[in-house]
Amino acid sequence: MIVSASNKHLEQILFIERASFSKPWTEYHFKSDLNNKISMNWVFLKNDQAVGYLFGWHVMDEYHLNNIAVAEPFRGTGIGVHLLKNMELHLKEIEVKSVFLEVSSSNLPARKLYEKMSFLPKGERKDYYTKGDDAVLYTLEF
Ligand SMILES: CC(C)(COP(=O)(O)OP(=O)(O)OC[C@H]1O[C@@H](n2cnc3c(N)ncnc32)[C@H](O)[C@@H]1OP(=O)(O)O)[C@@H](O)C(=O)NCCC(=O)NCCS
Repeated sequence: MIVSASNKHLEQILFIERASFSKPWTEYHFKSDLNNKISMNWVFLKNDQAVGYLFGWHVMDEYHLNNIAVAEPFRGTGIGVHLLKNMELHLKEIEVKSVFLEVSSSNLPARKLYEKMSFLPKGERKDYYTKGDDAVLYTLEF
């Protein structure tokens, strides 16, 4: 089940975040997004526990997908696809036209997920994360 993310999911989100990224978002970062009016965020629940999440900002007719992760034991079971389909459904309802994101060029699982969901690569940012770690920009147009 997918629901809007809220402060009650914060602990589980932070646990997944810290296990998923070498430079994880801080608690402060998540809290400020959870209380930010332009932020639209969801969690995937299994037995009432958040096992995946998607965070982003709604700006005019655009959505900036800033973070997505699934807890390691649940990866490869379609949760990433569910989170993106749910995002798409909600964004279409509020007449968002485009989704933007950046991903490390070496993050093949994430890139394959985005490409499966019809995102198109639209350029690169050299050394965006650290030296030698470029970002690929992806967009999805509705
Ligand atoms: C990227 C991530 C969110 C994918 O979530 P997921 O729930 O495992 O993805 P799904 O099970 O929905 O898989 C959907 C598609 O993604 C691709 N994919 C997922 N894991 C993959 C892997 N390990 N290798 C290659 N492709 C993969 C495949 O195309 C897959 O479709 P298929 O099953 O038909 O082959 C997850 O791997 C994750 O949390 N990674 C760590 C955090 C991260 O890197 N986030 C992205 C930051 S931009």
